[in-house]
Amino acid sequence: MNKKYRKVIIAGNWKMNMLPSQVRPFLDELRAGIPAATHGCSVVLCVPATHLAALSREKSRRIAMGAQNISHFDKGAHTGEISADMIADLGARYCIVGHSERRADNGDTDEIVNAKLRILLEKGITPILCVGESLEQRDRDLTIEFISYQVKAALYGLTPDQVKKVVIAYEPIWAIGTGRTATDEQAQEVCFAIRELLRREYGALISRKVCILYGGSMNAKNCAGLLAQPDIDGGLIGGASLKPADFAVIVREGSRE
Ligand code: 13P
Repeated sequence: MNKKYRKVIIAGNWKMNMLPSQVRPFLDELRAGIPAATHGCSVVLCVPATHLAALSREKSRRIAMGAQNISHFDKGAHTGEISADMIADLGARYCIVGHSERRADNGDTDEIVNAKLRILLEKGITPILCVGESLEQRDRDLTIEFISYQVKAALYGLTPDQVKKVVIAYEPIWAIGTGRTATDEQAQEVCFAIRELLRREYGALISRKVCILYGGSMNAKNCAGLLAQPDIDGGLIGGASLKPADFAVIVREGSRE
């Protein structure tokens, strides 16, 4: 892969799967399958909050730790919530924000997504902002319009310098967990549109720097075509990130020079 201005990020999203005790054997197998030097490719595992301590104990230089969510409150009387400071203290360097499953299951609105982005940036954690259209929106030709709206709403009020630090993941809802992947062209078209939007809003320099990932049934078989697209800088992988051998194939593809 030749991404001149940006690093490649291969991020796994374990969602609500695996157990803390499975972290170590998983890492042992993953490490055995990935190169010692990943050539500008960052490997990230976004695990449930209960697994963070186990992952941080492993202290892997090759695999960065990510969380899947934080509270939009800073701290205090919010029973059951987990703050950005808490995950940072355990060593999390990334955190997913605005995943369609959280938007649907937990009512994460655009305002909440924006608040979480701001907190993460303040704490020095890289947000992985997820955006994606429904099948109905795609069928009605509303994809680009809707994605542009979601990106703008999430980034509202951020400085260009903050925007530069956000990773954006394009995850069409109809491709998540369905085995139905966007074609290389469909994924590239939307990722290009996101970069164009960033160029208009924040300038060419910023838009060139932002990492844009694709997510939605990416796997060992289809990753090469997707990762070869000029505006796709990596993947956010659900199901296939639960299988170390499959995830390793995607990491190897992302690490190819
Ligand atoms: P799948 O790879 O299982 O489709 O999940 C994608 C996803 O939602 C990653 O955040």
